[in-house]
Amino acid sequence: MKIAILPGDGIGPEIVEQAVQVLNALGETFEMEAAPVGGAGYEVSGHPLPDATLKLAKEADAILFGSVGDWKYDSLERALRPEQAILGLRKHLNLFANFRPAILYPELAEASTLKPEIVSGLDLLIIRELTGDVYFGQPRGVRECPDGPFKGQREGFDTMRYAEGEVRRIAHVAFQAAQKRDKRLTSVDKANVLETSQFWKDIMIDVHKEYPDVALDHMYIDNAAMQLVRAPKKFDVVVTGNLFGDILSDAAASLTGSIGMLPSASLDSNNKGLYEPSHGSAPDIAGKGVANPLATILSAAMMLRFSLGKPEQADRVETAVKKVLAQGLRTPDIYVAGTTKVGTSEMGAAVVRALAN
Ligand code: NAD
Ligand code: IPM
Ligand code: MN
Repeated sequence: MKIAILPGDGIGPEIVEQAVQVLNALGETFEMEAAPVGGAGYEVSGHPLPDATLKLAKEADAILFGSVGDWKYDSLERALRPEQAILGLRKHLNLFANFRPAILYPELAEASTLKPEIVSGLDLLIIRELTGDVYFGQPRGVRECPDGPFKGQREGFDTMRYAEGEVRRIAHVAFQAAQKRDKRLTSVDKANVLETSQFWKDIMIDVHKEYPDVALDHMYIDNAAMQLVRAPKKFDVVVTGNLFGDILSDAAASLTGSIGMLPSASLDSNNKGLYEPSHGSAPDIAGKGVANPLATILSAAMMLRFSLGKPEQADRVETAVKKVLAQGLRTPDIYVAGTTKVGTSEMGAAVVRALAN
């Protein structure tokens, strides 16, 4: 089985290195091939998603991705910015279903921004639609404002849109995921204001007819953001569009102690997938050896489970992560008094050791 390794920028190479060491310690034979992506891709080829990188991603059975982005590329035209690499991979590979599980490990209760009684036992799954919405809608750009009090000035605009088939397929993914859990699904939208959201909601209600064993409710995005930090355990599975899912998943991440703990899987309809931490390239801490590699290691576990058909190895990795947390090892983002502060590579090495016993 072939894994494309795309470390990217910022902390990407540091955290992916640790996940690769964990994969190498499993006693399996994976073929791994690395390629530059994001700013690193731009530096070598003039484009954030070089042709050779896209080719490798297409032919691999799964992709392990670090993160892309750096402020130094902010002045480039949009098509050349590092973020286009991850957006391009999602679109080219049709990775429309993004799973972002927010689990609070009991050992990290103190690291969460919420009181332990509100957050302990948290285990929610955000399913974010990943290839549609205002992220990809056309037209977009800057033009002359056609009407209203600002007529004639420049205006920036994007298009929020979802095709029926796009909503239906993510609805099926979400209902099926809910069936495997607590059978509760919350669809998050802004149907009180947005046409796209009312359309989304109507289709969720229609697809629900095929899943009568799942309880479906609907929540507006503003309320959902509030409920997530007020009573997060109310949620089991959340399904939402690309933009709302991006925002909600960062908020959910902080409940788990740190965004450095939140893995993700982005899947097509055949469970081919790209696996990446939900966080970015963290330019503020890049190169310091302090980034938390656990979200990436846990993403590798999701890869073993969803794309590589190795659920028992996925369990091993997740158990090893729990062990190192129980040993009190903490990168700075999850550090609390009384635990042991370690760096990125020490954390990775501890997970490798924990696999062995
Ligand atoms: P970010 O997620 O990179 O960082 C937000 C904060 O979280 C920072 O303080 C950072 O230090 C911290 N953080 C993130 N990951 C961490 C980890 N593993 N361990 C410890 N702390 C961690 O978000 P940002 O600062 O808004 O964006 C930085 C760059 O990353 C931008 O260029 C953005 O576009 C890009 N980005 C890329 C991806 C991706 O590749 N999928 C995702 C999000 C952001
Ligand atoms: C994420 C990131 C990306 C997104 C950016 C880097 C394009 O924030 O994976 O959550 O907005 O989807
Ligand atoms: Mn994001």
